[in-house]
Amino acid sequence: MSQTAIRKLDAAGVAPAPAKLPARRAKLRRLTLTDFRSYERAEIEFDGRPAAIAGANGAGKTNILEAISLIGPGRGVRSARLDELPRIGGPGGWAVAARIDDGEDERRFGVGAAASKPDRRICRIDDAAASGPGAFSEHLRFLWLTPAQDRLFQEGAGERRRFLDRMALAHDPAHGKISSAFEQAMRQRQRLLDDGGRDDEWLCALEAQMAESGVAIAAGRRHIAAMLAAANVAADEAFFPAADIALQGDLEIALAHRKAADVEEDYAAQLKCRRRPDAEAGRALLGPHRSDLLVYHRGKSRLARLCSTGEQKALLIGLVLANARALAVCAGGAPLILLLDEIAAHLDPERRAGLFSILDGLGFQTFVTGTDKSLFTAWGDRAQHFEAYDSTLREATLD
Ligand SMILES: Nc1ncnc2c1ncn2[C@@H]1O[C@H](COP(=O)(O)OP(=O)(O)OP(=O)(O)O)[C@@H](O)[C@H]1O
Ligand SMILES: [Mg+2]
Repeated sequence: MSQTAIRKLDAAGVAPAPAKLPARRAKLRRLTLTDFRSYERAEIEFDGRPAAIAGANGAGKTNILEAISLIGPGRGVRSARLDELPRIGGPGGWAVAARIDDGEDERRFGVGAAASKPDRRICRIDDAAASGPGAFSEHLRFLWLTPAQDRLFQEGAGERRRFLDRMALAHDPAHGKISSAFEQAMRQRQRLLDDGGRDDEWLCALEAQMAESGVAIAAGRRHIAAMLAAANVAADEAFFPAADIALQGDLEIALAHRKAADVEEDYAAQLKCRRRPDAEAGRALLGPHRSDLLVYHRGKSRLARLCSTGEQKALLIGLVLANARALAVCAGGAPLILLLDEIAAHLDPERRAGLFSILDGLGFQTFVTGTDKSLFTAWGDRAQHFEAYDSTLREATLD
C-alpha cells in the first residue's frame, strides 16, 4: 500500500488537524485496520470508556491491542517483525490508523507499509510523514501487560530492562532516543574494536557518547524507580501485593552517591581501559545494557522470582498500576493508553472488580481482553463492551 493510500485511510471523514498537542484527556476514538494481521478491514469506534474485548482463542483480540500499540514507539506489544504484520493472503501492504481527540481537537496517526517496500515502516502524524515510530512517543504514551510477560521474573535481565525502559518512556519520550543513541555508539565502538581498534580519537568520541547517553539512561531508570516509590506501590495493596524494587547496575548504583558528571567521566575512562576485554568478549562488558531490575514481594520479603505464578502476575499488575498512578499525579503529558491483554483470566472475581475500580479511578483509556465476556460483567456500563469473533469486532450489550 502506498503512502497516499495510508493518508487517504487516515483522512477518512475527519476534519483538518489543529497544530496543538492532544491534551492528556484526549482518547483514541477510531481505529482503522487494513490488511493488518487477521483483519482485512475494520473500523472501530471507541467512546472513551475502558474497552473490554471478549472472544474465543484466535478471535482477534490481541491483534487489536497490537495495532493500537504500533501507534507508539518500538515494535508493539508482540515485538513483532515487520514481515509478520501484513495479512496472510492479503495484498502485502498493511495500515493501522488512529484518531485521537478530546472532544474539540483531534490528531490522526498512521503506521503501515507498502506492498512494494514491506520492510519500510511508514509513519504519519496528521498529514505529514514522521521520521519513525519514535515520533509517536511525543504524542501518545503506552503501558501494557501481555501474557508473554508472565515469565518476566524468570527470564534473563534483558526482558526486565525493556520492561523498565518502557515504563520510563511513558514518563519521558526522550528516554527512547537516548537508548537508541547509546546502542548506536556501542555498536560502532564494537565494530572498531573488532577491526583492531586503532582509531583512538574515534573510539574516545564513541565512548564519550556511550558515557553521556548511558548515564542518562541510568538516571531515567532511577527516576522511574523513585516515581514508583512516591506513587506508593502499596496503594493498591488490597488487591495487588506491594513491590519493592531495586536497580542492579554499576551506573545506577554510582548515581546514588555521586554527581552525574563524575559518573560519566568515570564510565568513559573505564570503557577506554576495557577495550581489550571488550574486543575479546565481542561486547561491552560494562554499561546500562547489563543492568537488571530486582523486584521483591514486600509482604513476603521474597524475590519475585521465588513467588508463585499468580503472585508474580499480581506483582506485575501492581507495578504497572503504580506507574500509571505516578503518571496520573504528573501535570501535563500526552494521553496514556493502557493495554492489558488476558489480564482478567488470572484474577479471582474480587481482584478483578478491584482492578476495574482502580482503572476507573486512574481515568486513563484502557483496553482489556479476555476469553469470556462474563469476566467483564462487574465493570457494567462503566466500560464499553466488545465481542471479537473471527476477526470481527462488534460492540456488545451486557446480558
Ligand atoms: N499476519 C497474519 N495474517 C493473518 N492472520 C494472522 C496473522 N498473524 C496472526 N494471525 C492470526 O490472527 C488470529 C487472531 O490472533 P489473536 O492473537 O488476535 O487472537 P486472540 O483473540 O488474542 O486469541 P487468544 O485468546 O488465544 O490470545 C490467529 O488465528 C492468528 O493465527
Ligand atoms: Mg490473545
